[in-house]
Formats: sequence, C-alpha cells, structure tokens
Amino acid sequence: MSQQDNGTVENGQLHDDIENLPSNTSGNRPFASVLETNMTRRKVMAGSLTVAATSFLAPTASAGWGWRHKKHNKELVSFKPVAIEDVVDTTMPTISEDYQYEVLIPWGTPIEPGATAEYNGDPNTRPTSAEAALQTGLGHDGMWFFPMDQRKKLAYGKHYRMRNDLGMLCVNHEYGNNSHALGKSAPESLEDVRVSQNIHGVSVLKLKQTRRNGWKVVKSKNTRRITVNTPVAFSGPAAASELLQNPNGNIALGTVNNCGSGATPWGTYLTCEENFNGYFGANGLLVPTEEQQRYGFSDSGFGYGWHLFDKRFDLTDEDYANEQNRFGWIVEIDPFDGTQKPVKRTALGRFKHEAIAIAESSNGRIAAYMGDDQRFDYCYKYVSDKAWEHAIAEGESPLDKGSLFVAKFNDDGTGEWMELTIDNPILAERFESQAEVLIYARLASDLLGATPMDRPEWTTIGTSGEVFWTLTNNTNRSEANAANPEAPNSDGHIIRTRDSGDHLGNDFTWDIYLIASSTRGTEAVFTDPDAAWADPYGRLFIGTDGGQPDGLQDQLVVFDTNKETPEPKRLLVGVSSDEITGFTITPDQRTAFVNIQHPGNGDPSATSFPAAFDGTTIPRDCTLVITRKDGGIIGS
Ligand code: FEO
Ligand code: CA
Ligand code: CA
Ligand code: CA
Repeated sequence: MSQQDNGTVENGQLHDDIENLPSNTSGNRPFASVLETNMTRRKVMAGSLTVAATSFLAPTASAGWGWRHKKHNKELVSFKPVAIEDVVDTTMPTISEDYQYEVLIPWGTPIEPGATAEYNGDPNTRPTSAEAALQTGLGHDGMWFFPMDQRKKLAYGKHYRMRNDLGMLCVNHEYGNNSHALGKSAPESLEDVRVSQNIHGVSVLKLKQTRRNGWKVVKSKNTRRITVNTPVAFSGPAAASELLQNPNGNIALGTVNNCGSGATPWGTYLTCEENFNGYFGANGLLVPTEEQQRYGFSDSGFGYGWHLFDKRFDLTDEDYANEQNRFGWIVEIDPFDGTQKPVKRTALGRFKHEAIAIAESSNGRIAAYMGDDQRFDYCYKYVSDKAWEHAIAEGESPLDKGSLFVAKFNDDGTGEWMELTIDNPILAERFESQAEVLIYARLASDLLGATPMDRPEWTTIGTSGEVFWTLTNNTNRSEANAANPEAPNSDGHIIRTRDSGDHLGNDFTWDIYLIASSTRGTEAVFTDPDAAWADPYGRLFIGTDGGQPDGLQDQLVVFDTNKETPEPKRLLVGVSSDEITGFTITPDQRTAFVNIQHPGNGDPSATSFPAAFDGTTIPRDCTLVITRKDGGIIGS
C-alpha cells in the first residue's frame, strides 16, 4: 500500500548554451521580455529563452509535448501482456516479453558523476546527510523528462524534432520511512533528521543515452537537489498572507512529500506536495485547531520525528506558528535553471496535492486538473484568467491569476465546478480573504458542498479533452453514490469528466470509465489505480498502488481509450511491496521512464532490488527505463 495512509543537434556546445539561459519563472520576471520579443519577431535565436515559453503551441497541449490527437490505424495496444502465471520471482520486476528495461538512478546515485559517494544498499553504511544532499533520494514518484533542446522548438517550427537522447529529468522523492533511510525507527540527532529530510524532495538531473552504455547521469550546471531546506518563493493571491509568516520571521524553505507531477506548456516542472502533515509533530501539548484537524496534523505525525530536533516542525513552537501553512502547494521548478528559486503557486490552493494535468483551451487559457488524495476529499480545477502566452508576455505567471474550482458530481452524470472565491457570501462568512480561502481550500470546499470522493489521485487529459481521474480506493466508504459506486471501495475506480466549455466551463459531464473490481477473476485483474498518463493516440497508462490480487505485485497497465470497453493490458509488474508510479516519456514515445517506489518497503528480506536478491542488501527506489525490443512506440 502507499505510505502513511492513506531534431536533433549533436553538438554539445549548443546544449551547454541552452543551459546558460537565465532564470525566469519566479514571477518576478518570468518569460516576459523574451516572449514578447518572440511574439513580434518570429525568428528566435537558437537558445533564447523566448522559445522556452512557447514550445507547446498546439491547442491541446495536454500531454506536455504540444501533441494533438494523432490518428493511428493499427491496434493501439498490441504487446503481449504479462500473464499472472508469468510472475514467479517477486524480487525482480516482470515485463512483457515485447519489452525490456534498464535501471536508472537508484537511491543514493550521485546527482552528477563525482558529486559524492554512491550508495549501493549496504545495510551497515547508509548515506550521511551531506551525501544524501548530493544523491538521488528515496520514494521516486512523479517525474518529467525535458529534452535538452525543448526550448528551441518554436524557433524551428512545428516540424522541429526534439532530442530523444538528452534531457533534464525532474524526479520527486516522495518519502522514505526512518527504518529505510536511517536503519532505525526514530531519529536520535539533528544529523538523523537531516538525512531523512535530504532523502526527500526533488532531483533535477541531466540524462544522456549512449548507444553502447544506455542511459546515464551526466554533468550539468543545472543539476540540483531541492529539499525541505531549499529556499523557495511564494507567489499568487496568498503569497503575502500573514498566515504564511512566522513570528520569528524565518524565510520560506523547502518542499516535502513530493508526490505526483505535471509540466506546464511553457516548459517548467510542477511538483505536488501531498502528505505534508506527517512531517510535523508536537513537543508540547497540541490542541489542534479546526484547520489543523482538517489537514490531519497530530502530535506525532507519521513518526518521522523531525520536530524532536528541528523546531520548524514543532506545531507547538510559537516562533513557527504558521510553518505548517507553507506546505500543501503546487511548486514550479525550472529544469533549465539550477539557480531558480522553486515557486509555490498559491492560486492553485492548499490541499494534499497528488498530481496535476494541464489542458489548454482553444483561446490559450489553461485549466489545471488536480486531486486531493484523502478519503472523502475532492477534485479541483484551476483556470487561468488569461491565455498563458499573454500572461507571460505581461510579466505574470498563468498560475498566479485565475480561479480555483471544486467539483460537485451529480448522480445524473452532470457536475458543477464551484468557484472557491471570497465573493461567495458562504465563504465570506467564514474567511477574511481570498488568501485564507486558498490556504484552507479544504474547509472552503466543505462549505460549498463539494462531493467527497474515493481518494482522488492522478489526472490526465485524453485525446478529446476528457479528463481521467484515478480514485484509488476508499475502505471507509459506507454509502455508495453514482460517482463513487462501491461501498466499501477496496479496489478503486477511474472516473472521466468532460468540461462543458473547452476546459473553461462551470459545468461538466462525467461517467465511470472503469470499476477496478470488475477485473477480478479475469487474467487482466488490477486494483488501486493511482499514477496516470494518456498519450496522444488514446493509450492510457495506469500505475497501481495497493496489494494486487492473485499473487501479483503492483503493475503498469495500458488501455486503448478509443475502444468502447476498457481492457487493461499488463505491461509491467513490480517487485514485492513496491508501487508503480511516475511516468514520463521521450518526445518520440519510444523511451518511457517508470518509477519503482518503496520496493520491499525497504525490507531486504522481501527484495534487494535493483540488486540481485541476497536477503541483506537494502532495496532502493529507482527508475526503470522501458523500451520496446523492436524500438516501437511505448504501449504499442
Ligand atoms: Fe502520493 Fe496519493 O499518492
Ligand atoms: Ca496511492
Ligand atoms: Ca506513493
Ligand atoms: Ca499516488
């Protein structure tokens, strides 16, 4: 189960030039001046950041590459699925015989060659905090591959083909428990806490594929680790709120429990802060406020014990009274600028952000679909006020000015996007400002009568603009309704929404794409849908997170959504007690990256993966690079 609860240019010089591009996504001076130049002067100099913001001009840039719906006449999903009986050794993954995988960036990999020592899973010598700060962490989750020449695409026009063998990879390190990271259940010193903190966060790495040696990490000036101690900026309506300031005036630091991911049309990475509450605890007597209760804060959190040695995480330390409000946001990271301060975008609300999928309406405004993963929590949509290119040209972030909505699912297959605005008298009675509405988005949504869902996890946009939402399970549900039809819901389902107004509407229609329990007793059985990604042809990739039936482990399944009846095909089965999560792909769709999270839950008696099983080597979260043996498109 999941954690606590719940074109190619071969010239290296050119690529170095691209990496020299200045920072711009902080909201202070985003892509404004450069983009403006671009809009008036279509010929952009190669390597200009101008291109950065405009590399995805296609109207439905939902998949992240500016892809439009592509037609495909052959069978979309024709690989030989992994059969239940094929899964015989759960210490190693099992992949379709038409596919192959290689292991990349296991926990403890130096973020660039020579940065620090490499950790190999030795149970007696786990990484120190200094080493962990320069290595990949634990809990590989959401990620995104940014081709090195991604920001040149506009300059070269729509026929420009981006590189498929060189790029920046942003990868989330959602979590690793103390026994996995430290070899003990609780920290005994600040050093222990720093180790735990440093195995969390985000890695930004440069990857290169060589014919002889496969994929490897290479040097880049933009390589970095972002942890809970990295300076960050706040932007949007709540940025200046007193609720984000502490009495002792400490600067905003860090991101944590980075779960799923997304990418913007202007080429930045979005990382989602999910179970942030679990890192806080109380050294004094905690009497939780209504707000703290709604976000799940408690005196011992998830047992990380950070508060014992780092007072930022002590809920009863008056100096840090609002530190807790600084987490639960969507955070924007520039993969091509290692000096950029990650920006927390408050307009997108504060909740347990699972993941984010951005759709572009035909007039260029964007809609971001987001789940709040908790039993009985909600589905959200953010809509930008302006077309994203215009916003950027005016020096604004499209993620700062816009409206946030929460979903109400009616039993008749219709639904309503209800705006979380202080202009609504219901909310004005409870909250003082729009900032407060956003900071306590869960409470605001409660007041509007949003529909409690069965743990909304990832979102992804299909070929006709429909949104797929994975609802992983809800064992606490006692009363079914049309949108959550199982009670209890042990296996989860996938719901599909269609916005009434090209992603800008206040209404939507919906249907259930699949109830996972309906696959039980069949060869295609799978449960607990979680990670999701849809390709431009209509393939839907789903990663699972939960004990799988029939001796299976967590899996990656693929659907052809053009078909009337959903039919999951099993591409990959993971190792004992892991989770398959995070999915990203090269522009040619011939290389996919998929994460193996918490293999064996850190227990070497279950698996030593990615090492061969020996009963003692500590298993390490890692990324699998997946290719078709015949070089074909992933999922075909
Ligand atoms: Fe981090 Fe809801 O999964
Ligand atoms: Ca999950
Ligand atoms: Ca997880
Ligand atoms: Ca998840």
